[in-house]
Amino acid sequence: MIHFLFISIVSGSTSDTITSVSPLKDGGTIVSSRGLFELGFFSPGNSKNRYIGIWYKSIPVKTVVWVVNRETPVTGNSGILKITNSGVLTIMNDKNMIVWSSSSSKATQNPIAQLLDSGNLVVRDKNDNLNLLWQSFDYPGDTMLPGMKISKDLLTGGENNITSWKSDDDPSIGDYTFGCDLRGYLHQIIKKGQVLQYRSEPWNGIDFGGISVLPQNAIYKFDMVFNEKEVFYTYKMFNSSMISRLTMNHSGIAQRWVWSDQVKDWVVYFSIPAADGCDLVCGAYGSCAINSFPKCGCLDKFVPKYQNEWNGANWSKGCVRRKPLDCKTDGFVKLKNIKLPDLQYAVFYKNLTLLHCEKLCLKNCSCMAYANTLKTGGTGCMIWTGDLVDIQQGPSYTSEIYIKMAFSDLGSHKKKRKIIPLIIASIAGVLVSMGLIFVFWRKWRKNSVLKGEEEQVGNDTDQLYTNESQKEDLELPLVGLSEIVKATHNFSFNNKIGEGGYGPVYKGVLQDGKEVAVKRLSKTSNQGLDEFKNEVICISKLQHKNLVRLLGCCIQGDEKLLIYEYMPNKSLDYFIFDESRRKLLDWAERFNIINGIARGLQYLHEDSRLRIVHRDLKASNILLDFDMNPKIYDFGMARSFIGNETQANTMKVVGTYGYMSPEYAVDGVFSIKSDVFSFGVLMLEIVSGKKNRGFFHHDHHHNLLGHAWLLYKEGQLMELVDPSITDSCHLYEVIRSIELALLCVQRNPDDRPSMSSVVVTLSSEGELPQPKQPGFFYTDHVPRDDTSSNTHAPLSTTEMTITLVNGR
Ligand SMILES: *[C@@H]1O[C@H](CO)[C@@H](O)[C@H](O)[C@H]1NC(C)=O
Ligand SMILES: *[C@@H]1O[C@H](CO)[C@@H](O)[C@H](O)[C@H]1NC(C)=O
Ligand SMILES: *[C@@H]1O[C@H](CO)[C@@H](O)[C@H](O)[C@H]1NC(C)=O
Ligand SMILES: *[C@@H]1O[C@H](CO)[C@@H](O)[C@H](O)[C@H]1NC(C)=O
Ligand SMILES: *[C@@H]1O[C@H](CO)[C@@H](O)[C@H](O)[C@H]1NC(C)=O
Ligand SMILES: *[C@@H]1O[C@H](CO)[C@@H](O)[C@H](O)[C@H]1NC(C)=O
Repeated sequence: MIHFLFISIVSGSTSDTITSVSPLKDGGTIVSSRGLFELGFFSPGNSKNRYIGIWYKSIPVKTVVWVVNRETPVTGNSGILKITNSGVLTIMNDKNMIVWSSSSSKATQNPIAQLLDSGNLVVRDKNDNLNLLWQSFDYPGDTMLPGMKISKDLLTGGENNITSWKSDDDPSIGDYTFGCDLRGYLHQIIKKGQVLQYRSEPWNGIDFGGISVLPQNAIYKFDMVFNEKEVFYTYKMFNSSMISRLTMNHSGIAQRWVWSDQVKDWVVYFSIPAADGCDLVCGAYGSCAINSFPKCGCLDKFVPKYQNEWNGANWSKGCVRRKPLDCKTDGFVKLKNIKLPDLQYAVFYKNLTLLHCEKLCLKNCSCMAYANTLKTGGTGCMIWTGDLVDIQQGPSYTSEIYIKMAFSDLGSHKKKRKIIPLIIASIAGVLVSMGLIFVFWRKWRKNSVLKGEEEQVGNDTDQLYTNESQKEDLELPLVGLSEIVKATHNFSFNNKIGEGGYGPVYKGVLQDGKEVAVKRLSKTSNQGLDEFKNEVICISKLQHKNLVRLLGCCIQGDEKLLIYEYMPNKSLDYFIFDESRRKLLDWAERFNIINGIARGLQYLHEDSRLRIVHRDLKASNILLDFDMNPKIYDFGMARSFIGNETQANTMKVVGTYGYMSPEYAVDGVFSIKSDVFSFGVLMLEIVSGKKNRGFFHHDHHHNLLGHAWLLYKEGQLMELVDPSITDSCHLYEVIRSIELALLCVQRNPDDRPSMSSVVVTLSSEGELPQPKQPGFFYTDHVPRDDTSSNTHAPLSTTEMTITLVNGR
C-alpha cells in the first residue's frame, strides 16, 4: 500500500503539517512548531471509537480542545487523515470510505494542513501563509481557546458558539451551548437546546455588569466587538505563556480553566452559572439574592402571584404589583445593585438619554421598566415592554433599573413619619405664625429625644397655639436630618443642582429610592426663617399641576430644609437662555409652558383658597418636569391676601430685577398685577430667548420690553422671535403671545389683564386691545446703590432674588 510508506515518514518526524503526500495515520501525530499543541487519533473516556483531536502537548494532563470528526468516529485503528489536491481535509476508514471531510476549500497548487501554536488547524497553500483556505477556529467545539471567536453573523444570521460534548465518552454535540445573544442588547447566554439557562448582563462597553470577577481579572483580556457585519466575543492572554481555556461541560456549566504549574493540574478560574443557583429561578418580578433565605423574594411592593406555591418554594410564577398600574399617574422606583432582567422584551435605544427613555416608558402602557445601559458616558438606554424576569440583587451587580409603579406605591408613604398637622388658625396666621416653627421644633424634639440624638433648641416657649379642634386635614411629613444627609451624600457638591436666593438646592435619593430636590436654607441668611415658614405654609396648602409639590420639611438645629418633588429637566432659564439648549424647546413646547405658567398663576391668584401673590416669578423659578410641563417654584416670597384686599405695601421689596413691576420696585406696592407684569416679562423671554435684564441692542438703550414695544409700533414683531423656533412656530400664536405680553407689562397695574383673562386669551381668537407703553422701558431704570442697604446679594448678579428696604 502506497499510504503505508508515507506514514512512516510522518510518524518518524515531528512535523506540524500534513501534505497531500504525507497523510496522518492512526498512531502518528503532528506537533505545532513550538511544541504547544499536538494532533492525532485518540479514544475519549471508555469509548473504543477513534477520533482525531487536538490537545496540549506541553502539559502532562491530556486535555483535548478540539475534535475533528466529533459526530463521525472511526471504528478500528486504521483511520487516516489526509488532504486532497483540492485542499479538502478528509478522514477515511479502513475501507477507504470518507467518514468526515472539511466542507469546502479553494483549489490550490500545494495545499497543506498545518497545526499552529494557537491550537488552530489551518489549510493553506504551502507558499502562502496569509490566505487561509479553512481553519478549525471557525468551527468551535466545546472549548474556546485564546484568539477564537464566539460570534453571530449579522448578515447571514449564522452563529458560532461552543457546544458541550454528549458525555465524557462521546464528543458529539450535546445539549448545552454557550454563545452571544442579541435580543435587546448584546449579552452572553447558555442554552439547553433552545431553552435559556443563563444569561449575562448586557455588555456595557466595559464588562457584563453581572460578572464581577472580570474587573479584577489579570490573566486575560477579552473583547466584545460589535460592527455592521458581526458581533463576536474573543479573548487573549496577557502573558502568552499562560495556558487557559473556556469550556462548556455536559452538565451545563461553562468554566474558565487555568493551568497551574505548581499543582500540575487545571484550576477552575470561574464557572457560569455560579453555583448559587440564582439564575432564572424566581419568576417575574421576583428577585434572587444569594445570601438570603429563601433566595427568592418579591420586589418591594410586589406580592407573590400564587402565595401557596410561593410558600412551597416554587417561585416560577413570580410576583405581581400590589397596586396595579393605571398608565396615567404611574412613576418609577429605582433599584440599585441589580442584574438587569432578561432582555427578551427589551428594546435598546442607542441614541436616547435616560431622560428620554423615561418619557418613552411613561408613554407606553406596556413598558414596565427602563435602564441605562452604557456606563461609558455615552447615551443609550433600554426599555422593557414585558414582565421582568431573572432579576438578581447583590453588591457585585452594578446596574440600576427604574421600575414602573403605581402612584401610591411610589413615595415614602409607608416610611415617613407623620408629623402633627400644621395648624393654621386663620389666614392671618399665615402672616405671623411664628408659633408654627415651635410646633415643628417640639415635635422634632420629641422624636429626637426618643432617638437619643443630641439637640440644640432655642428658647422653648409653651405658647403654642396647637388646638386640636382647629386641625385641618393638612399633613406634611417631617423628614429626619440624617435621612437627608444620607440622601444628598452629606450635601455633596456633586449633588448640588442649583442655588436659590436663600441657599443651595441638592438632588437627593431617599431610602425608598424616590428622587427629591432638597432646598437648604443658608444658615447665614437672616431672612431665612420667615421665608421658610412662609413657604411651608403657603405651598403645602396648594395643589395644582403647575406648582411644584412640597413633599416634606426638616428643621433640626440650624438646619432648615425643604423637600420638593424632583424636576429632572431643571428650570426654564437653563433652556431658553442657552445658545444650544434653546433649540431643544420648540414653539409647541414653549407655548405649552406659557399656558402652564398662566394656569398655575391663575390658580394662585384666583382659585386657591388663599389669594396668593408669588412676588418672584422668573425663568429660574419655573421648573420643568420630564414632559417639559412647567411648575412654578419658590414660594419663599409669596404673600396671601385676606378677603377682598387686593394690594399691600411693604417696606421690604423682594424680587428680581428685570421682573419687578415699577409700582413694586419703586413704591413697594404689590398686588396680583405685579405678578402679571412678571409673567409678561417671562413670556417675552420665552418667545425671544433673551433676558429682559441684560438685554442689549446696538440701536437703542431699551431693555427687552422697550425693544418689543418698538418692534410692535413698527409692526416688526417677528424680529423678536428666537431664531431657533422660527421654523417650528405657529405665527398666530407667537404674535398673539407677544401682544398679550405687552398688555401684561403695561405701566399702570389697572391696565394689565388678570390671569384668568390671560388664560382665556391664550386659547381664543379675536382682537386684542392696543397695549400702552410698558413700565421699565430703559435698561437702567432700577434704583441702585442708594436703596440697597439690606441686600445680601451683589446687585450685579442679575438672577439673584434681591431685597430692598425702601426708604419711605
Ligand atoms: C448556538 O448555535 C445554534 C445553531 O446556530 C443555535 O441553535 C443555538 O441557539 C446557539 N446557542 C446559543 C447559546 O447561542
Ligand atoms: C509569564 O508566565 C510565565 C510562566 O507562568 C512566567 O515564567 C513569566 O515570568 C511570565 N511573564 C510575565 C511578563 O509575567
Ligand atoms: C461540569 O462542571 C461542574 C462545575 O465544576 C461540575 O460540578 C460538574 O461535575 C461538571 N460536569 C461534568 C460532566 O464534568
Ligand atoms: C411549580 O408549580 C407548577 C404548577 O404551577 C408545577 O407545574 C411545577 O412542577 C412546580 N415545580 C416544582 C419544582 O414544584
Ligand atoms: C444621535 O444624537 C446626536 C445628537 O443629538 C445626533 O447628532 C445623531 O445624528 C443621532 N444619531 C442617530 C443615529 O439618531
Ligand atoms: C410599546 O412598545 C412596544 C415595544 O417597543 C411596541 O411594540 C408597542 O407598539 C408600543 N406601544 C405603544 C402604544 O407605543
